[in-house]
Amino acid sequence: MSTDNIREVVKQKYGAAALRVQAAASSCCCGSSPAPAGGCDPITSGLYSTQQSGEIPAQALQASLGCGNPTALAQLNPGETVLDLGSGGGIDVLLSAKRVGPTGKAYGLDMTDEMLALARANQKKAGVTNVEFLKGEIENIPLPDDAVDVIISNCVINLSADKDRVLREAFRVLKPGGRFAVSDVVVTGEVPAAIRKNVELWIGCIAGALRDSDYAAKLAAAGFEGIGIEPTRVYDVADARQFLAGQGIDVDAVAAQVDGKFMSAFIRARKGTKRP
Ligand SMILES: C[S@@+](CC[C@H](N)C(=O)[O-])C[C@H]1O[C@@H](n2cnc3c(N)ncnc32)[C@H](O)[C@@H]1O
Repeated sequence: MSTDNIREVVKQKYGAAALRVQAAASSCCCGSSPAPAGGCDPITSGLYSTQQSGEIPAQALQASLGCGNPTALAQLNPGETVLDLGSGGGIDVLLSAKRVGPTGKAYGLDMTDEMLALARANQKKAGVTNVEFLKGEIENIPLPDDAVDVIISNCVINLSADKDRVLREAFRVLKPGGRFAVSDVVVTGEVPAAIRKNVELWIGCIAGALRDSDYAAKLAAAGFEGIGIEPTRVYDVADARQFLAGQGIDVDAVAAQVDGKFMSAFIRARKGTKRP
């Protein structure tokens, strides 16, 4: 698939997801939490604490399509500026806005009109004013150099066909000393290409997940320091059994090649304070 095709597929998929959330206010739930737009799947459900869920409108929680909770793991201080790459329905932007307070600001960036409309509606319901949702692509961030203290993102960079460019852009807009604090799907070790493709399809990584070592290398190439990748949720074949079986795969035969290799991870890095 070409870069433009990938972008169109991603826009269509998430545009439809945003419309589903708007149409079906509270259709079902996962345990005690409202079901996220991705359904009660092992990737998107149960990511936010009861306390965090109580801080935002129910529709923002239902629009959650992430694979982690970067706002719980990132250090966010009052007065700081945060940028969320691929902000979707706005959940992490609204949570960040609370953390940075009225003297800080949280930007959300998304390319899908329906998601931006949903995020702005959620902002209105939440009644927060230190938030701005921007339309644009994470490969071409519409902000000047050295503009933000923290970059967060939740399961979006794996959707990009040009991850090097995304990381270079993230580095550019961070202030010296700024932090990169992102949740994303990564792969560890070798997985045969055909199996990898099917598991990625299940996870929704349209453009492919990076290996953890490649992610770290790309961050370093973009200029980042202090790089760390910590697993937050590790998937095994049982999580994907139904989907993989539907693709005609002998699930038991491939279990050893899948188990423990795909994970949601928290990826952190820092922009140094010295000018190159
Ligand atoms: C998996 S959803 C995650 C949304 C949100 N971060 C969350 O946790 O609920 C991916 C979002 O990223 C947006 N997106 C994907 N690729 C993008 C790109 N290249 N530029 C801007 N937005 C993008 C989609 O429109 C969608 O809203």
